Amino acid sequence: MKLGFLDFFGDIANFLRGGSVLGVDIGTSSIKIAEILKKGDSFRLANYGILETKSYLEHPNQAIQTSSLRIVEKDAAELLKTMLREIKPKTRTAIASIPAFVSFVTPIEMPLMKPDETSKAVAFEARQLIPLPPSEVTLDWLKIEEFQGSRGQSMQRILLMGVPNEIVRKYKTIFKTADVKIAAFEIESLALVRALAGADNVLTLSVDIGAEATNILVSENGVLKYNGVTDYGGIYITQAVGRSLGVSSMRAEELKRRRGLTGTGGEMELSTLIVPFLDVIIQECRHVVDVCERRYGKRAEKLILTGGGANLLGIEKYFVSQLNLPLGQAPQLSNLVYEPDLEPARKGLDNALLVAIGLAKRYFK
Ligand SMILES: Nc1ncnc2c1ncn2[C@@H]1O[C@H](COP(=O)(O)OP(=O)(O)OP(=O)(O)O)[C@@H](O)[C@H]1O
Ligand SMILES: [Mg+2]
Repeated sequence: MKLGFLDFFGDIANFLRGGSVLGVDIGTSSIKIAEILKKGDSFRLANYGILETKSYLEHPNQAIQTSSLRIVEKDAAELLKTMLREIKPKTRTAIASIPAFVSFVTPIEMPLMKPDETSKAVAFEARQLIPLPPSEVTLDWLKIEEFQGSRGQSMQRILLMGVPNEIVRKYKTIFKTADVKIAAFEIESLALVRALAGADNVLTLSVDIGAEATNILVSENGVLKYNGVTDYGGIYITQAVGRSLGVSSMRAEELKRRRGLTGTGGEMELSTLIVPFLDVIIQECRHVVDVCERRYGKRAEKLILTGGGANLLGIEKYFVSQLNLPLGQAPQLSNLVYEPDLEPARKGLDNALLVAIGLAKRYFK
């Protein structure tokens, strides 16, 4: 069992940290890249790219990666190469995300101790909590908070994180093939929380609705406190619409994007088809909020929706009413400085690029 792979960030000392860096987010249906430049105290979006593959709509097993831990390495590397050719970034150094649905992220409690002792205790706990042989997992941890136990003893709450070595190996191959230098890998949830930059000033439930999975996380003041995942995402909505209306997945996808939950008359049917899928995600959100309340003694106070699925027309109103939480907003492009001509497209970019931006920001910490 390897420990502290995320802080193989020590390697970054060997990179010249000036100039720009790429945040690369390989999702199941798309690759997103944000190139970020630091100037003084401000960050600038120097460049970005979003490549969506549509082939997975007709052939779901052609997603770039699937929940069954299989990344299609060759495809991902080729797509990445194509994108880099197009966007011509000024750097080949990147921070890349590991999807939440292949990671194990769980808060654990233990007595307060020194960091090296905590590492040992975490490795021990991980054996109980992670259903893989220790030799096949890379572990890391972060301290969430210190607190007093019921007998007044000093305790700490730790976020245990584990990624199968096989996944790390696959990602390394993808980036090597695409000639990208990886400074660090990071679980996407941590990147997303960093990108929220101040929007989570109270306990916040953030829901990142992707193609094959939805990442549900709770954070406060930039600290990730809980991470849940559900195997439901936009592609299942598209498939259900296609099946029920007897149209191709391409057509169903188009209908879904154009009408969302807002259809009237004959189109009411569309929202009737979509809502059951949203309800599964909402049910998992409720579960996450309850678990957090038991652990932290308070309930999430606001909701942020992101990911491609958050573009669904009418989704905000539906989630707010079902979860009974006010809607918060992630800061516009995570407070980056950006070219004014991006403004009209900004909302869609916010939903797409937050993870990639959060990754890149890590580089300059
Ligand atoms: N305007 C829209 N209305 C409804 N759904 C949309 C819209 N735009 C994109 N989507 C959906 O968003 C999903 C893709 O989201 P995203 O790009 O966040 O996924 P991903 O990061 O590739 O996947 P994952 O996070 O599951 O690995 C697709 O299912 C797509 O149908
Ligand atoms: Mg995603």
